[in-house]
Amino acid sequence: MENPTILITGGAGYIGTHTVLALQEAGYSVLILDNLVYGHRDLVEKVLKAELICGNICDRPLLDQIFAQRSIEAVIHFAAYTYVNESVSDPLKYYQTNVLGSLTLLEAMLQAEVNKIVFSSTCATYGIPQQIPIPEEHPQNPINPYGATKLMVEKILLDFDRAYQLRSVCFRYFNAAGADKLGRLGEDRTPETHLIPLVLLTALGKREKVFIFGTDYDTPDGTCIRDYIHVIDLAHAHVLGLNYLLQGGETEIFNLGNGNGFSVQQVIDTVINITKRSFPVVKTERRTGDPPILVGNYEKVQRVLGWKPAYSKLEEMIEDAWRWHQRRHSD
Ligand SMILES: NC(=O)c1ccc[n+]([C@@H]2O[C@H](COP(=O)([O-])OP(=O)(O)OC[C@H]3O[C@@H](n4cnc5c(N)ncnc54)[C@H](O)[C@@H]3O)[C@@H](O)[C@H]2O)c1
Repeated sequence: MENPTILITGGAGYIGTHTVLALQEAGYSVLILDNLVYGHRDLVEKVLKAELICGNICDRPLLDQIFAQRSIEAVIHFAAYTYVNESVSDPLKYYQTNVLGSLTLLEAMLQAEVNKIVFSSTCATYGIPQQIPIPEEHPQNPINPYGATKLMVEKILLDFDRAYQLRSVCFRYFNAAGADKLGRLGEDRTPETHLIPLVLLTALGKREKVFIFGTDYDTPDGTCIRDYIHVIDLAHAHVLGLNYLLQGGETEIFNLGNGNGFSVQQVIDTVINITKRSFPVVKTERRTGDPPILVGNYEKVQRVLGWKPAYSKLEEMIEDAWRWHQRRHSD
């Protein structure tokens, strides 16, 4: 029998690739399942040199085949659609992949008697915050289908824990940012919707201008504040979460955030400082559904898993992302 392997769904994506690297560095053997809708084969093959099965988490026969042929000890489940606006215009796509896909995966795991999973949830499950920083016990009232799909999977996991002893660690991430320190991996999606890559791509001349949606919020500079968490810190948390489950840990839900927020204006100013480039910035109306401040409380994960962000400075996240974007778009 081969060495036990960790199955990583969505392992060719942004957070997935960084986590695969961290798992390899921790000595784990990994198998990636990704249909490459947004994942990158070149990063998996050239940088990670990991095994990739190009397939869909909704494909039950494929899942059964993987679990039958390979000795899978646990699953880390990143695969999902992640665009909030698209989830509003095409909710079917989101419920199908994010909920039904997760359920298909869980059913295949039960049949194969694989009972440990780390799941990617999101701060979008909280909806409009009633308290800052947001703790895990904050009410969950998602305001878009994307957040709703993630909350449904969280609930399914809690029910599966009680009924089938399927143990899970569910991480609610705030905004992933940054990139591998050597510039080998990073964020690369089309369309891009995340603020830091949008501003960096504008600095690179790949986009025309940056928009600030609302400058009259009740924040020190009037622009929205968000919690950014370095993707290397996220990756490290997954290694700790996996170790915890493999050592017999109970099902738990943890926030993964920075504990500190940075405003849209601060992000733009920091990009200008680091890149030494200028570009047009357009101040426009607020968007509906954008809370003024979203910041997570990470005390629980610090207490239980001993995790805290190692790269919590905005400058460092932007420097690392800038290194990656320059290299990725050097043509
Ligand atoms: N990036 C963030 O800030 C953030 C915040 C909160 C939660 N999350 C969650 O973290 C996870 C990873 O996000 P990411 O930013 O790396 O996104 P990503 O799009 O880069 O990664 C998702 C990966 O899943 C793959 N995938 C999508 N549908 C699939 C399917 N049906 N079958 C197999 N593979 C499929 C994609 O090809 C992609 O490689 C997602 O579940 C996302 O909801 C991300």
